[in-house]
Amino acid sequence: MRRPVRIAPSILAADFARLGEEVRAIAAAGADYLHIDVMDGHFVPNITIGPAVVKALRPHSELPFDVHLMIAPVDPYVAEFAAAGADIITVHQEAGPHLHRTLQLVKSLGKRAGVSLNPATPAGALDQVLDIVDLVLVMSVNPGFGGQSFISSQLAKIAALRAMIDSTGRAIDLEIDGGINAETAGAVIAVGADVLVAGTAAFAGGAAHYAGNIRRLREARGAAPAAR
Ligand code: DX5
Ligand code: ZN
Repeated sequence: MRRPVRIAPSILAADFARLGEEVRAIAAAGADYLHIDVMDGHFVPNITIGPAVVKALRPHSELPFDVHLMIAPVDPYVAEFAAAGADIITVHQEAGPHLHRTLQLVKSLGKRAGVSLNPATPAGALDQVLDIVDLVLVMSVNPGFGGQSFISSQLAKIAALRAMIDSTGRAIDLEIDGGINAETAGAVIAVGADVLVAGTAAFAGGAAHYAGNIRRLREARGAAPAAR
């Protein structure tokens, strides 16, 4: 079965000095979601943006804002990101001991709830929350930085999560983040991913290239490479 592939460009690779313009350009180029990477210098070794930037970007696009929170603790900030205009709020399974409570909090605010897994965390860690999540985000790099290489051992995990999601019968996005380019996109689509995050590959070459960059990712076909 072939499901529609959606592309979620990560603004981490955009020109931060011209962020509104960049968001409008990537939306016009055919992006499906806008992926916003929030890092706190604690859960991950980098600091990026906060709710003020999400709020400032909101008038620039009607795309769903796919907010990836790489922060711990996360609960104290969820309402602020919801108010700033997030549509999907994704938290890390590893960010705290009360994942289910955090997901309930996101849902209580009327937002789509996502949960992300670091490369070392197994698919089974989501067994008890698939009845409440709307999106599963598999990290195919260790979170913290753009421009890293795809970790191909994650392909088996994506395949396992595809089977787990299908068995629920629920509409849950299976999103992959990190090192996605025209080559790795084919591999993750082949094992069941349906939303691809791309920073470097989406924003490469400047605005004139964005539509082509997105099309190449969406149309990528390939087989899973051998695990390294
Ligand atoms: C990494 C972020 C990613 C990153 C992807 O921690 O979650 O969204 O920006 O960047 P690329 O596509 O360059 O690997
Ligand atoms: Zn991300």
